Amino acid sequence: MLDTKIALKELEKLNNAPQTTERFQKYLWKSWALNEEFKTMGALSFEEKKKMGSVLSEAKTTLTDAYESKERKLSMEGINQKLNEDLIDISLDGKPLDQGSYSVLALVRREIEEVYKWMWFIIDYGHEIVTKYENFESVNIPLTHPATEMHDTIYLKDTDPSGLLLILRTHNSAHQVEDIMKYGVPLKLGSPGRVYRFENMDASHDTMFRYAEWLVIDKNVSIANFKDTMKKILSWILWKATEIRMRPSYFPFVEPGFEIDAQCTICGGKWCSLCKQSWWIELVGAGMVHPNVITNAGLDPKEWSGFARGIGVSRLAALRYGIKDIRYFTNGDLRFAKSFS
Ligand code: DAH
Repeated sequence: MLDTKIALKELEKLNNAPQTTERFQKYLWKSWALNEEFKTMGALSFEEKKKMGSVLSEAKTTLTDAYESKERKLSMEGINQKLNEDLIDISLDGKPLDQGSYSVLALVRREIEEVYKWMWFIIDYGHEIVTKYENFESVNIPLTHPATEMHDTIYLKDTDPSGLLLILRTHNSAHQVEDIMKYGVPLKLGSPGRVYRFENMDASHDTMFRYAEWLVIDKNVSIANFKDTMKKILSWILWKATEIRMRPSYFPFVEPGFEIDAQCTICGGKWCSLCKQSWWIELVGAGMVHPNVITNAGLDPKEWSGFARGIGVSRLAALRYGIKDIRYFTNGDLRFAKSFS
């Protein structure tokens, strides 16, 4: 007959969960000793059966309880052991993580976007690939105009669905007509983003640079409005009261056109590669939107007028931080990048 005490002792000795289950199965399931005992009961008398029955069911309960508590104990031990093994010593020094940071250009671009928002301008990034028509003809630059030479860029093999040649935009002015038609008038629109040009690279020129366009179309827009917003923008972005000068210039998409130069903050006019000893750095191309551009956007230039300007973000950043060469911004020199983090 099954001796519960022996079974319990055996169970006691076991110290891992799978073994325990196996042993328990031996006693209580498949080759279960108790089952064997139960089988022999048929031959017993009624009284013996009763006695035997209660002994066996007590044995079964005892063993099941013992097994279940052993199993709980083992699994708790297992959990505790795992917790101990996985213990993290929080008093140890951590390994420093390499931290990324924004590039200077991203910082300045973000600020420009803040200024757009303060002045209630819609922001539209446009696209870096535009049609040749958008880049030139839509803003009143006939394809034979010498200005297209200055704005030479990369041409794509593909055309747009209507067969127009695709190029990398040379200025965000390329979106003026599209945006006036898209957003309607009156309009205050900011368009920041990269532009591409055929340039001889030097301290203040690169073949790809960041640009930010401002476009206002409304009734009775005047040069006074233009000057006022220009001053606000530059004083916000350049931080310090930088002297600026406004001079007449020519851009086919404006009439009249201006150029705005800022005083070189780096050399103060003595000599530096950025301003090339001229004291002034050309920062903004601007003007009152040409009637042809307004007409191209489907509006009556007698009724609607506006101003626009395009700012070179890299030059702005160079002036602000006193950086002598805009190529630092993109040459991937970590020492430079880290000095702004
Ligand atoms: N698109 C010109 C350039 O890239 C700058 C410019 C001039 C922008 C006059 C304008 C503008 O919006 O009205 O040099």
